[in-house]
Amino acid sequence: MIPFFISYTYLILSTTVHIANAAANKSIFILSGQSNMSGRGGVVNLNWDGYIPPESSSNPSILRLNAKLSWEVAAEPLHRNIDVAKVCGVGPGMAFANSLLKKDLRFGVVGLVPCAIGGTNISEWVRGGGLYNRMMRRAKVAVRGGGVIRGFLWYQGESDTVNVEDAEAYKSRLHRFFGDVRTDLHLPLLPIIQVALASGSGPYTDMVREAQLRTKLVNLRTVDAKGLSLQEPEMLHLTTPAQVSLGKMLTNAFLQTCHPHS
Ligand SMILES: *[C@@H]1O[C@H](CO)[C@@H](O)[C@H](O)[C@H]1NC(C)=O
Ligand SMILES: *[C@@H]1O[C@H](CO)[C@@H](O)[C@H](O)[C@H]1NC(C)=O
Ligand SMILES: *[C@@H]1O[C@H](CO)[C@@H](O)[C@H](O)[C@H]1NC(C)=O
Repeated sequence: MIPFFISYTYLILSTTVHIANAAANKSIFILSGQSNMSGRGGVVNLNWDGYIPPESSSNPSILRLNAKLSWEVAAEPLHRNIDVAKVCGVGPGMAFANSLLKKDLRFGVVGLVPCAIGGTNISEWVRGGGLYNRMMRRAKVAVRGGGVIRGFLWYQGESDTVNVEDAEAYKSRLHRFFGDVRTDLHLPLLPIIQVALASGSGPYTDMVREAQLRTKLVNLRTVDAKGLSLQEPEMLHLTTPAQVSLGKMLTNAFLQTCHPHS
C-alpha cells in the first residue's frame, strides 16, 4: 500500500515537473514590424482563405503569447487579436518555428511573441511610444514563466518609403531602434534578423532598402524579400507560399548568428 502510494505520487510529481520544465525552457522569439510580419498570406478581399500549409502547421512544441498575455499552442494566423485592425492571414512565424525545430531540436519549446502591426512606420516604433512599450511589456511577460529570448525578427519599412524625409532618416532610426531593443531587454548581443523589403507603399523604396542592407551590427542578419511572390489581385502582401519561404530564410539566417547551439 505504502510503496504503491509513494510511486503513484512520484509518477504524478515527475509528470508535472516534466511539463513544467518543458514550458520553463522556452526559446523565445519576438516577431515585429508591419503587415508582412503580421501575415496576410491567403487574405483576398478582406477574407482569409483558411489554408495553413504543412510547413506552418501547429505543433505542441510551438507556443504563442496571446493577446491576454498567456501561452497557448500557436496557430496561424499568429497575429490574430494582436494586429486587431486588419484581417490576418499566414505570416512567416510558424514556418520559422517549424523549420527551426526541424533543424535543431535543442531549441526545445519555441515561444513566439507576435507584436507586428500593419501600416506602421518606424517613427511609431520609437522607444517610449505605444507600440514599443507594448512590445517590451509582452517580451517581459514572455520570460516570466521561464525561457530565454533567443531572437528578434523584424520586417518593416514599407510605410517609410512615402516621404523622402522618412526614407532619409530610416538608417539612423533603424540603428537606434535595434540598439534600444537590445538595451531594454538587457541582451546586447541579441540576434536580430531583419527583412529587406522588395517594394513599398511609396517612391523611396530603394532608399529604405539600402538603409536596411547597409545597417551593420554584430549578430544582425538580413534576408531579402526580393523575388518572393505577392498575393493577387492586390499585390500588396506576400502570398502564403512566399511566407513559408520567408520563414525558412529567417531560420537559416538565425542559425548563422551567434546563438547557444552555434
Ligand atoms: C532546455 O533547452 C536547451 C536548449 O535550449 C536544451 O539544451 C536542454 O536540454 C533543455 N532542457 C530540458 C530540461 O528540456
Ligand atoms: C509616421 O507615423 C507618425 C505617427 O503616427 C505620423 O505622424 C507620420 O505622419 C507617419 N508618416 C508616414 C509617412 O506615414
Ligand atoms: C510586403 O512585402 C513585399 C515584399 O517586400 C512588398 O512588396 C510589399 O510592399 C509589402 N507590403 C506592405 C503593405 O508593406
